[in-house]
Amino acid sequence: MAATGLHFGWLRRVPLAMALLALAGCHTAPINVDSARLIADELDGRNWAAYGRTYSEHHASPLRQIDRRNVEELGLAWSLDLLGVTNGATVPLAIDGIIYLTVGQSIVHAVDARTGRLLWRHDPEVTKVAKRKLRITWGPRGIGYWEGKIYVGTTDGRLIALDARDGRQVWSTQTVDPDNELTITGPPRLFNGKVIIGNAGSEFGANRGYVTAYDAGTGKQLWRFWIVPGDPAEGFENAAMEMAAKTWTGDWWKFGGGGQAWNAMTYDPAYNRVYIGTGNGSPWNRKVRSPGGGDNLFLCSIVALDADTGEYVWHYQTTPGETWDYNSSMDITLATITIDGRPRPVILHAPKNGFFYVIDRETGKVLSAEKFGKVTWAERIDLATGRPVEVPGARYEEATALVWPSTMGVHNWQPMSFNAQTGLVYIPTLEMASLFDDRGIDPKRFGMQSTKLNTGLAMPVGDAPPDAGKSALLAWDPVQQRAAWSVPTPGLWNGGTMTTDGGLVFQGQSDGRFNAYDAATGGQLWSFDAQMGITGAPITFEAGGQQYISVVVGWGGSAPAFFGSLAAQHGWQARVHPHRLLTFVRGGRARLPDTPPPQQVKPVDDPAFVVDAGKAQSGGVLFAERCIVCHGLGAVAAGYAPDLRASALSLDATAFQSVVQGGGLEIAGMPRFEELGAAELESLRHYLRARARGAP
Ligand code: HEC
Repeated sequence: MAATGLHFGWLRRVPLAMALLALAGCHTAPINVDSARLIADELDGRNWAAYGRTYSEHHASPLRQIDRRNVEELGLAWSLDLLGVTNGATVPLAIDGIIYLTVGQSIVHAVDARTGRLLWRHDPEVTKVAKRKLRITWGPRGIGYWEGKIYVGTTDGRLIALDARDGRQVWSTQTVDPDNELTITGPPRLFNGKVIIGNAGSEFGANRGYVTAYDAGTGKQLWRFWIVPGDPAEGFENAAMEMAAKTWTGDWWKFGGGGQAWNAMTYDPAYNRVYIGTGNGSPWNRKVRSPGGGDNLFLCSIVALDADTGEYVWHYQTTPGETWDYNSSMDITLATITIDGRPRPVILHAPKNGFFYVIDRETGKVLSAEKFGKVTWAERIDLATGRPVEVPGARYEEATALVWPSTMGVHNWQPMSFNAQTGLVYIPTLEMASLFDDRGIDPKRFGMQSTKLNTGLAMPVGDAPPDAGKSALLAWDPVQQRAAWSVPTPGLWNGGTMTTDGGLVFQGQSDGRFNAYDAATGGQLWSFDAQMGITGAPITFEAGGQQYISVVVGWGGSAPAFFGSLAAQHGWQARVHPHRLLTFVRGGRARLPDTPPPQQVKPVDDPAFVVDAGKAQSGGVLFAERCIVCHGLGAVAAGYAPDLRASALSLDATAFQSVVQGGGLEIAGMPRFEELGAAELESLRHYLRARARGAP
């Protein structure tokens, strides 16, 4: 039902689609014509068949039934509880009246868009096979669609194709070594009958990033592009790697190098290229991985590759010599904007480092770049060289430095959207500093596989106060390179945006509000209490002639990890507040099922437990390296996993051991830490007791 009988409006739009295909040199095999046109068509908003809706990744829709004047009539059509899942940071698809989404450990759902009835559910049973990879949580932000198949990546590194009609697996391929730290977190992208996927995990060990393209029909590998150079003694894969190696120093390959393409990838039909947004260095600290300095290509860059062969075409590095966990894995948005009186095909890119870039798509040359938030690591981008003018001291040359933006960036992966009518880009921004401190770091510790947070910096063991950061929804004019409007948003970690030709911008927020704003002015026009924080981005589509809007409700991503009380202030609790798929329509009157209100954790205690300060301190370091990614900075959890200060189970040494070391809850997503001995488990318990009693 899902895949057969698709009837697209592209017939009306053939000139545009044909023009794009002509530019692409007709690389598209006949069998893929429908999907190619579906994803190319900017003007037919009935479906949302790719992560950013179309190849251009605008996260925008031409639909206008719901507009500025009537958006106040928007109401809930239905909601669907997504049972037994943790991560809800995801963007759905909607094709021919069916919504497809992945949540939690890559569990794919197909849902009737008009009624909310679950049609099928596919569980790849990640927790049974992921082993150590289960320790890394930031899983999948979206899925792909091509010719009747849904594509999803998993934490254990499988890329899986499912039959869109019934969810049956068509093929599955292992894209990363099952025993290293690489996982999949990003959505697959589809073009020309190919599916491309990257990976993540540079924080957790000595890993080298790459992207791989597979045949969408069979799963057969077509090409692979490595993002950083490997050991020169083994020879380089291609001339691009040989060039990149000249920008590294020391024995970088022993540290993996990193550069993982963990999120943004964009196919450009006009040039038949894929643009890869590459990640941070591994480890983060350049002094460790490349001690003699160097730009360290292709970290923190956009790399353009030939879509047929995966060959290097050009690159633009946004942060040469990356050392702050900045990366260019944020949206790579295609647009044509007027510069100096003529239309130019450009990339719009707002990466973590806080500069908004307009880049020439043909050549990769940066045309303009301005700060779109608080930035102290660089003064400006020199357009003659394309390079940042850095601020002395920002590289923590003297061992410490307080730098804006933080490792979370001014903009993280949550999608920005581009509205061609207003000409504005809507960016969920955040403002926070990080203290970079590498005193006492032993570089020898980092050249290995570890599955521990492995940044080359001192690990934070304390909490982050609720006012440690702030956030805003920013409307940015890419031509003038300045803000058009900005509205404050709650906390730090808010959802991606979606914009429509109805003159609207939608965004879900950390306090559980799902809001609509006037795209031109930022005036708030509508708001719905979703009763749980929202991290993913909404979509819109048409079914039975009606415009619908859908969003997945549920915290996710790294918010519950690194922000402690800054994230916990919203009161979302794991295993208490359900994740849901919500769908809205004009005149909708459905109500959400009863949901517990936001609540703060009440620590439990055993007064007989005597805390040993030394053990608590070493337990704090263990916790920071292994547990904060789910249980929260300073053991203050914010909704991904239970708050261990309030865990009765943790009070019992035997139960604690059976869960943490024995893997007793592995099936529920709590990884096994088999390497921890009795003394280490003991020190973790001392740390948790100290934190439960409010020790700093
Ligand atoms: C990848 C995410 C992740 C990491 C990393 C992680 N946990 Fe967990 N943990 C979970 C989840 C999810 C649960 C809840 C499972 C369930 O639904 O019962 C959990 C549950 C627990 C529980 C049981 C709590 C209770 O009251 O039921 C304990 C104890 C625990 N974790 C300790 C740890 C410790 C100690 C570490 C670090 C050594 C750690 N966890 C690392 C995800 C994680």
